Amino acid sequence: MFDRPRRNRKSAAVRAFHRETWLAPQHFIYPLFIHDGTGNQPIDSMPGCQRLDAAGLLEEVEGAVKDGINAVVLFPAVDESLKTSHGEESYNPDGLVQRSIRALKARWPDLVVVTDVALDPYSSDGHDGVVSEDGRILNDETVEILCKQAVSQAQAGADIIAPSDMMDGRVGAIREALDAHGFVEVSIMSYTAKYASAFYGPFRDALDSAPRFGDKKTYQMDPANSREALRELELDVAEGADYVMVKPALAYLDIIRLLREHTALPVAAYQVSGENARIKAAGANGWIDEKKVALESLYAIRRAGADVILTYYARQAARWLAEG
Ligand code: PBG
Repeated sequence: MFDRPRRNRKSAAVRAFHRETWLAPQHFIYPLFIHDGTGNQPIDSMPGCQRLDAAGLLEEVEGAVKDGINAVVLFPAVDESLKTSHGEESYNPDGLVQRSIRALKARWPDLVVVTDVALDPYSSDGHDGVVSEDGRILNDETVEILCKQAVSQAQAGADIIAPSDMMDGRVGAIREALDAHGFVEVSIMSYTAKYASAFYGPFRDALDSAPRFGDKKTYQMDPANSREALRELELDVAEGADYVMVKPALAYLDIIRLLREHTALPVAAYQVSGENARIKAAGANGWIDEKKVALESLYAIRRAGADVILTYYARQAARWLAEG
């Protein structure tokens, strides 16, 4: 027996010679939930995450920056009274997201502020787009509103606009709208392959944004498909995306790899709320080691080909990595 792979695993130092994947705080984007009330509110299905008020947001970001996190993405829990069929609140220059972006950029000009573009937090129907009388999601009408939302986020100071709505043609339309308003330097991180996934459950609890009827299968992708991801990739690249994203992450490592192999653009992956919840729940029960499973999952996502990971574990993982 000449070939003994175990020789290359015999000590930590030897193993470190040929470690292929590394993980650091710079690879993370930290998703934060915000609301307009007073005080932070716990989210039952997302232990460790809260709906933050204005002061809570600054406090959390201060801690995250100290832990080495350079980027956050904001998700608003919008008051029911502001939700409408066309989600006009999404482009209110004084809306919760717009105010929060300004507050963050005033304090941390170098912080990368990413914003979500989609109507669901603002929609009285709980859908990412405008719903017709007969219950269809109207693509082109929605894209017009998404452009206004993106421009208003850029005006407030957003660095990266991340459309998560899965409407056709929205990346190109948003690129044109941003450029027309002089925001040529604002980037687009497209949710390229976003699947119609049950892993989003806890997120919808956090924002009270679950669809009021039906599901999202006419716009989000079928979990059974992978070729479709390449079709979406081709469109996003042609329309000017700066980053392409796969979501969820761990159950879709093959899709992350597929995109990695078919584009030179950076690939992002979103470790979503349900992925977080299952590690948290099993960890809290003592069934798995939360820290080890969380880090192993993040390594797997990077190994599959993701450059950057949106993860609720961002801050905790940064601290775990610092502990060694
Ligand atoms: C909404 C949006 C969703 C998530 C991010 N943006 C939910 C959905 O599409 O229903 C999910 C994130 C998560 O589960 O952590 N456009």
